[in-house]
Parts: sequence; C-alpha cells; structure tokens
Amino acid sequence: MRTVKVALGARSYDVLISDGLICGAARHLRPFARDGRLLVVSDEVVWRLLGEQLQAGLGEIAAVPILVAPGEGSKSWEGLRFVLDQLVDHGVERSDHIVAFGGGVVGDLAGFATAVVNRGCGFIQVPTTLLAQVDSSVGGKTAINVSAGKNLVGAFHQPSLVLIDPGVLNSLDPRQVRAGYAEIAKYALIEDAALFDWLENHAPAVLAGDRDARAHAIAAAVAGKARIVEEDERETSGRRALLNLGHTFGHALEAETGYSDRLLHGEAVALGCVLAFDFSADRGICPADDAARVRSHFESVGLPTRLGALDLAGKGARLAAQMQRDKKREGGRTAFILARRIGEAFVDRQVDLEDVAAFLDRAS
Ligand SMILES: NC(=O)c1ccc[n+]([C@@H]2O[C@H](COP(=O)([O-])OP(=O)(O)OC[C@H]3O[C@@H](n4cnc5c(N)ncnc54)[C@H](O)[C@@H]3O)[C@@H](O)[C@H]2O)c1
Ligand SMILES: [Zn+2]
Repeated sequence: MRTVKVALGARSYDVLISDGLICGAARHLRPFARDGRLLVVSDEVVWRLLGEQLQAGLGEIAAVPILVAPGEGSKSWEGLRFVLDQLVDHGVERSDHIVAFGGGVVGDLAGFATAVVNRGCGFIQVPTTLLAQVDSSVGGKTAINVSAGKNLVGAFHQPSLVLIDPGVLNSLDPRQVRAGYAEIAKYALIEDAALFDWLENHAPAVLAGDRDARAHAIAAAVAGKARIVEEDERETSGRRALLNLGHTFGHALEAETGYSDRLLHGEAVALGCVLAFDFSADRGICPADDAARVRSHFESVGLPTRLGALDLAGKGARLAAQMQRDKKREGGRTAFILARRIGEAFVDRQVDLEDVAAFLDRAS
C-alpha cells in the first residue's frame, strides 16, 4: 500500500493506493458508515461494471447507489438537482460521508453536491478512471458545467479520504487510460524531471497495467499534485496555476473540436504540453532538445502531438480567439504555463495572444 498525505491543516487527508483496495473497502470505509449503510454516487456504467465488487468489499455495510448517466452531460444543473434530491430524500446529515465512485464527472458532481447539501457534508473519493485517480479526485475542486462554460459553478471542498485501486482500470478503454496518462506526464514536466526520466523508460508498463509501474506512477503524480495544492489550496498565490500546464492550449483545442470524442481532455493536454514546450523553445526560454523530448515521449505512447492530425494546422487565429474567450472569463489574467526545461514550469501572465497565434500558425 502506498499512502500520500495531503497536508491541509484541519482539512488534511490520506490518499491510499493499492491494487484490490475496493475488495477490502470495509476496512477503510466502516468509520464513515451510518446505520450500516453508505450512500454511493456513481454512474450507470461504473456501477454495472464495478458495483458488485464494491458491495462485496463493503461486507455487511449496505451501499445505497445514487446513479447518474455516464458522461459530461451529468455535470449539469439537472444532474446536481437529481443528486441533491436523492441525498435529501435519504436523510443525509452534515456529519455523513458520501462516496463518489466513478470518473471525474462523478467526483466533480458528487463533490459539489456534498459541498452544498445541508451546507456541506463529507465525502470520499473512490476514482475509477486514470484521470480521476491522478488528478480530479485530489485537490478539492468540484464543479458542474453551465451554458457559459465548463466548471463555472462549483466549490472548493476537500474529500476526507481518497481510495485508489488501480485494478479497476482494467475495464477502462485503453484510449481513456492514455488520456489519463497525459496528466501523469504533465506533473513530471511541471516539477519532476526524475519522474519524466522514469516515465520515458516505464510508460509502456504503466499503460499496459503492470501493477508496480502503475502504482508508482499514480503515487508520484498524486504526490506532485498534493505538493502544489498544499502550497496554494485555492489558487490564490498562482502556484496552483502550474497544474494548468498544457491546459491553456488544450482548452482551445477542446473548444475547437467541440468537446467531442475527436479529442479527449487528456489528449488535448498532451498536445497542449507539446505546444507549451515548443512555444517556450520558440521564445528561447527552453532548450529545443527538451521540447523535442516531450513531443517524442507523447508520440511514443500514442497521444496526439501534431495540430495537423486534428485538422487544426494554420488555425492560429481561431485557437487564439478561444483563449481570448477564456481570458475574458478570468478577468483578463490568462496565465500561460511555460517551461525553462523539463521539470521546471513557470507561470507567465504577460504572453501576447498575437504571438501565440503566429506561433500556432507556424506549428504543424
Ligand atoms: N476537479 C478537478 O480537479 C478536475 C481535474 C481534471 C478533470 N476534472 C473533470 O473530470 C471530468 C473527466 O473525468 P473522466 O475523464 O474520468 O471522465 P468520466 O467520469 O466521464 O469517465 C469516462 C468514461 O469512463 C467510464 N468509466 C469510468 N470508470 C470506468 C472503469 N473503471 N471501467 C470502464 N469504464 C469506466 C465512465 O462511465 C465514462 O463513460 C471532466 O468533467 C473534467 O472537468 C476535474
Ligand atoms: Zn486536465
């Protein structure tokens, strides 16, 4: 068992990482059950695939499922209202802990619902996608999407415990696994050059489901996120913005491809990291060799690294316009995360979007 502590004073919690963890879930979740039961928010696909396994792991504790439809559409006002109504109908109390069992959609939705129901109750993350295991389940950001944009209504609400069982990833689509992997590589690129070296040698094992390699990579990524969140829980000092490496470019790519299956979030992050390093090299901030290494790593694991492959070559102006839209929403302070080298990212708030557009027009 690997344990990563997220040290946030009174809001501190442990992230436990171990294969088969949900089969022994009772050991960790018993203290949170009331009247012999636990409310579990999940999606229909996750519950169909893994619900029995969780219930078996809970032993005599009854899991009471609250199920939403799979997919981003559930992170909505309707999804929130449904979960809140269910929680209230089940008589949830402030001292209760609800289990979020699923990918980032379930974690964000259940996290936000528990931030506001009864003015807040506790929750436990049991993430079932690689993206949720290395990113969304840790750090306390919860949200739903509204018509003006993604994640615009939400709350900071830390879980009380995170249980990561890499074994549940065996049923996950390999494309989703690769997309989650992009966020692991992202942490390495931000501040852990040694992890990037390790990933260059072990990425195939991580992706193929090798137990040790996978648990090591997940723990390293979670520890990286925990360090940054500990320093800047609510993204006030700017340090937490580093976690957006690859995301300013990535969000523009996702918006241009219509947030569709054409480009998953993690795939956009991979290409976004490549562009952030290329842009840094273009400006003379970062060695070209490092940028080339980043591209060839993502290429070697089958993640997208070229705008042309998405029919987005030569569309610099359109992509920059998408970033401009983000910028307006954030009060004109769009932060670009650039890099001095692999493992040394920094926040730059002075980047001129015209420079970005010109760079993207030259990129292939
Ligand atoms: N809060 C944060 O800090 C944070 C960070 C990153 C992303 N997010 C959010 O996370 C969401 C994306 O999360 P996601 O990529 O996990 O998507 P998701 O939750 O939609 O899961 C992807 C698909 O995989 C299925 N699935 C989940 N676990 C499975 C398993 N073990 N086996 C088979 N199928 C499984 C789900 O049913 C779903 O259809 C986005 O809404 C994003 O905004 C939040
Ligand atoms: Zn992300």
